[in-house]
This record gives sequence, C-alpha cells and structure tokens, in this order.
Amino acid sequence: MKEIILKLENERFLSDGEFRRLIEDDSEETARFLTERADAVKRRVFSNKVYIRGLIEFSNYCKNNCLYCGIRRENQNAQRYRLNKEEILDCCAQGYSLGFRTFVLQGGEDSYFTDERMADIISSIKSEYPDCAVTLSLGERSRESYEIMFRAGADRYLLRHETADSGHYGRLHPPELSLENRKKCLYELKEIGYQVGCGFMVGSPYQNTDCIIEDLKFIRELKPHMVGIGPFIPHKDTPFRNMPQGGLELTLKLISILRLMDPNLLIPSTTALGTIDVAGREKGILAGANVVMPNLSPKTVRKKYTLYDNKICTGEEAAECIICLKRRLAGIGHEIAVGRGDHIGFGEDI
Ligand code: 5AD
Ligand code: FES
Repeated sequence: MKEIILKLENERFLSDGEFRRLIEDDSEETARFLTERADAVKRRVFSNKVYIRGLIEFSNYCKNNCLYCGIRRENQNAQRYRLNKEEILDCCAQGYSLGFRTFVLQGGEDSYFTDERMADIISSIKSEYPDCAVTLSLGERSRESYEIMFRAGADRYLLRHETADSGHYGRLHPPELSLENRKKCLYELKEIGYQVGCGFMVGSPYQNTDCIIEDLKFIRELKPHMVGIGPFIPHKDTPFRNMPQGGLELTLKLISILRLMDPNLLIPSTTALGTIDVAGREKGILAGANVVMPNLSPKTVRKKYTLYDNKICTGEEAAECIICLKRRLAGIGHEIAVGRGDHIGFGEDI
C-alpha cells in the first residue's frame, strides 16, 4: 500500500482500482503512512499555519428539501430566523477585531435574500472592510445572480457538490434537484472569477466506494480552491434520522488523499468532524487540513442553525471560540495564519 500512497503523492492521482484499494484498506499502518505523507506535503506548502474563516449563518430559511439536512423546508420543528444587514455587519465587526479577514455568509436557499439585498450586504461589508474577503455559501442561484454578487465584491463561493454520482445524488435529494445543475453552478462560479469550494459528506446514506472515486474524479476536473468534507451526521427531524453516521477514520483518510492530490488545496477541518469526535478538528489538521471556520453568528441563533444533531460550539461567543481554537491548535503545534489567506502555494513564502 505504501507504493500506492507514494504514487499518489508523486503523480497526484490514481487509477480506480488503486483508489479502491486505498479507500477500502482499513489497516492502521496504511492510515499512519497516509497521514505522514499528507502532513509532510502540507507543511512544505503551508508550514504549521492554519487559515481561519469567520462563519456567519445568516438565515436558516430554505426552499429546498434535501433529505439529510436539518433546515429542509419540511422540517416544521426548525425555528426559522434571518439576520438583517446591521446584525451581519455587527458579526463582521466582532470578527474583524478578533483577527478574521474572511467572512463566510452562509444560509439556506432563502428567496428573501434577493440579488439586490445580497449585493447591498456584500458591498457594505467590502466598503467597511476593504482588506477582507467575502465568501458566499447560498446554494444554487442563476448565473446572473452569481455575477451580480461578484460585481458587488464577493470573492469566493462555497457550494458542496454533495456527491458526484448522479444516482446517489438522486437518493439524497428531492427530484427537482440534480447533479447536473449543481455542476453547472460550480463551473459558472469559476468562470465568473470566484475562488470556488466544492465538497461532499463522508458516509452519507447509500454512499459506496464508487461514489467516492467519482467525487475524487470530479474534484480533479473542477480544480477548486477549496474542498470541504465532513462526516454525515443524522438529524432527528429528517428522513435520514436512523441512518448511520459517517466514519471518523474514513473522513481523515479522505482529507489526506485530497492533500496528496493537491498540495495547495484549502481543506477545512469541519465542525461536523469536531462533532463526531472531541478531538476531530485537531485530527483533521494533522491529517492534512489547513482551514478552520469558527462561528461568528450571534449566540442567540446558533442552536437554530442545525444541519445535524449535537453540533458543537453552539453555546459559545465568537471570542470564546477563537481563544479555544488557538489553544487547541497550539496543542498540536499549529498556529493561526494572519491575513486573507488567498496567496496560497506556488512556492511562495506565506
Ligand atoms: N450531516 C453532515 N453534514 C451535513 N450537511 C448538511 N446536512 C448535513 C448532515 N446531516 C452539509 C452539507 C452542506 C453543508 C453546508 O453541510 O454538505 O453542503
Ligand atoms: Fe467554538 Fe471551541 S471553536 S468553542
């Protein structure tokens, strides 16, 4: 298995058969060697630096009905909320003083936030904080909408593809959603000039090794700047309430595989990973991840933005989160990088 891992490091990709063997091998020795190579590759590019992005969950209204997601429209138990522009700007102000230089505006697909409203929010943030990047995570919208928000100053867009296998996509989503449209959105975002992030859940219902291999192939084709992956965690008010949770080891292994596929990639160690294991985020960093996205949302709404059960950090203030995070990163010999964090890779000294 070591040869396969070294081949992945050198050639940045593997055949289907080799990926299958690597993904399905659950020996400790393989896991250890994979982590070791991914860590070495990450340190060569990023040293021990971890980028932070401040997450602002500004609306949990969603017109979609994804079977896995706690804010799906049919969930009558979700307490819906929206932050207004002032509340969003307050989050940015607090985040800025804590050292954040990227704000991620994440929400459900909420038609209240029209292109005009989004453009107004984005341009207000950019004029108050010209040294900051604005990242959007608002789901599928039209090309025109993406263009309007880009012109208003948005820099980056996160849209997980969720699975690159169209049959699997159909089992996770209602019929009105398609992998084809998801991919179209991602390519449009890239064409417009956004830095783009895609990603998928690990261990989502009906996922098998073939699906994961498709995900890796799609990622190679799209060439995103960021790939976010995290374990699937069931939510009690969704059709997938009784489905098994995604695995820690497989998530870590896939983080390492992604790191070897692209040494410059931004890979978050996700909140979902921190939710299934108390040291999950630290383990993610040690497996090759280099981004964390602490929550800047007001404490009053955090519990309401629950995509899955038992989400961590819902009772914390933003300041507490960052102190806790610094301590945790120091504990594993890492530190927070300053600045926007988009001058990645290419052998530069960052
Ligand atoms: N478990 C884990 N991740 C989830 N997401 C949504 N629901 C869940 C869940 N139950 C992820 C999706 C989405 C991102 C914002 O959160 O991948 O794109
Ligand atoms: Fe939120 Fe630790 S990162 S409390």
